Amino acid sequence: STTVDSSLPLSGQHVVVTLGGTKEPIDPVRYIGNRSSGRQGMAIATQALAAGARVTVIAAHHEVSAPAGVTVVSAPTALKMQAAIAQVWDDLDVLVMAAAVADYRPAEYHGEKLKKASGKLNRIELVENPDVLAHFGHLERGSRFLVGFAAETLTGEDAKEAAQAKIFAKRVDLLALNLVGESTGFGDVPNSLIMMDSAGEIVAQFAGTKIEVAQALINQIVLARESREE
Ligand code: CTP
Ligand code: CA
Repeated sequence: STTVDSSLPLSGQHVVVTLGGTKEPIDPVRYIGNRSSGRQGMAIATQALAAGARVTVIAAHHEVSAPAGVTVVSAPTALKMQAAIAQVWDDLDVLVMAAAVADYRPAEYHGEKLKKASGKLNRIELVENPDVLAHFGHLERGSRFLVGFAAETLTGEDAKEAAQAKIFAKRVDLLALNLVGESTGFGDVPNSLIMMDSAGEIVAQFAGTKIEVAQALINQIVLARESREE
C-alpha cells in the first residue's frame, strides 16, 4: 500500500540492509565464500519494515525469502555489493551492513571450469577486496546512519577491543558484536549481540531469536538517531 503511517519510528526513512555471505568466483562452478545464511539480516529488514521504513535488501545470498514489500537487489560479490550500495547511497538514511563480505577474492576468474588435474586448484592467488563498510564510512555521509557487524570468535576484552578497532576504522555509528562459533550465530539458531556506539562503548546487549534480536537492534538505531538529534 502507499499509505505512510507517520506515527511509526522509521516512517519516511529508507533502510538498506546488506546480508548473506559473498561468493567470489574461481570458475563457473567454484567460489570462495563466507558463512552467512542471511537470516539475521532478513529479520532486520522485516523489523525495519514493521517500524515503517522503506526497505531495500542487498543480498549476496539468502536462504530465507524476503518479506513482501521489501526491494531485493542481488549482489553476489564484494565488488558488486559496493556498486549496489553506491546506487542507493544518495537515497538512503540507514545502512545496516549485515553481509559477510569475503575479505579476499581470486585474482583471476577462469571462464572455463578448471580441471582437477590442471594443477591450478591447489594454489589460488587472492587479492584483497575493498572494505565496503569503511569505504562508505569515509564518504561525506550527511545524516546517514551506518551500522556494522563484527563477527568474532574471540571472547571478553579481546572481542571488545577487536570490535572497537572496527568501529574506528570503518567509522560506524553503531556496531553489533556477534560472538560466533561452530554452533552459534550461523543458520537457524538464536543469536546474541553486544551493541557498541561510535565511541566504542557498550550500549546494550541482547539475546533471543533472530527476529527478537532484530527488533532490539532497530530500537537501538531509533534511540541512537534520536539522541543524535538532541
Ligand atoms: N565488511 C565490509 N567489507 C569487507 C569486510 C567486511 O563491508 N571487505 C563489513 C562487514 O559487512 C561487517 C564489518 O565490515 O559489517 C565487519 O566485518 P568483519 O569481517 O567482522 O571485519 P573485518 O574488518 O573484515 O576484519 P576480520 O575479518 O579480520 O575480523
Ligand atoms: Ca572479514
